[in-house]
Amino acid sequence: MTYYDQVAEAAAFVRIRLGALAPRVGMVLGSGLGAAADAVADPVIVPYQEIPHFPQSTVEGHSGRLLAGLLGGAPVIVMQGRVHSYEGYTPREVTFPMRVLGTLGVRAVVLTNAAGGILAGYHVGQLVALADHINMMGWNPLTGPNEPRFAVKPGAGLRFFDMTEAYSKALRALAAEAADEMRAAGAEGFTLEEGVYLATPGPSFETPAEIRAFRTLGATLVGMSTVPETIVARHMGIEVLGISCVTNLAAGLGATPLSHLEVQETGRMVERRLAALLGRLAPRIAAKVEPDPRVAL
Ligand code: HPA
Repeated sequence: MTYYDQVAEAAAFVRIRLGALAPRVGMVLGSGLGAAADAVADPVIVPYQEIPHFPQSTVEGHSGRLLAGLLGGAPVIVMQGRVHSYEGYTPREVTFPMRVLGTLGVRAVVLTNAAGGILAGYHVGQLVALADHINMMGWNPLTGPNEPRFAVKPGAGLRFFDMTEAYSKALRALAAEAADEMRAAGAEGFTLEEGVYLATPGPSFETPAEIRAFRTLGATLVGMSTVPETIVARHMGIEVLGISCVTNLAAGLGATPLSHLEVQETGRMVERRLAALLGRLAPRIAAKVEPDPRVAL
């Protein structure tokens, strides 16, 4: 069976479970941020292990299931947990779920992650919208034959394509609006800055020398995910909003050694705020993405 057929089979399986729901907006919740999915009303829940060919998350803090339902009144499909290449998955396996989301009719995704903060001035617990990324993973998920059938709109699915606006300006503007509203509603000190996310393959955290090098390169955040998903989403023609949660100061910048426990604890502190932001964002994004003519409503 080809990779394309595996994606089609997985999507067909999920579509049956979704019934009448046809979400245009997808979300991926990163390390320690999974509880943001609790805000989805009456969700249909599909554990990854039930979906044919779907990779399983092995990282603590990643629960491994799809949830679909209404968030802020808009239909969304949420991945609670993702997989990474450091778990032993190939680039195509890491991005398999994004291919499935696109095949299901998703036209915009919000990719969240836990990240180390490189920029002086970021504080732990801060949310940052991604303006751009730097791929230092050493691989690209599109290596291998091009598969144009994954395109979700005309003009997408090309071998070579533009990445100058990998992270949608329009979606960032919606996120800024939602953040302003939250501040006005009393979320004191809530800011949504913009940053540049640099992805490493992990799983070791960085050395202080690496962080100094990454800062020189223009990165303000460092993490081990998101970039492969963004590349594949853009290949398909899906709009991307990236949101990092600064779970710790990057290596060499804080007083204490880095740990996954700290990443998870900060995630837990922030996830309610993230859920509120996503709840305000979902209907705005849904209103912006055009309906999919391939999926019957
Ligand atoms: N480095 C890489 N990945 C991370 C970090 C970090 O400091 N924090 C959370 N994910």
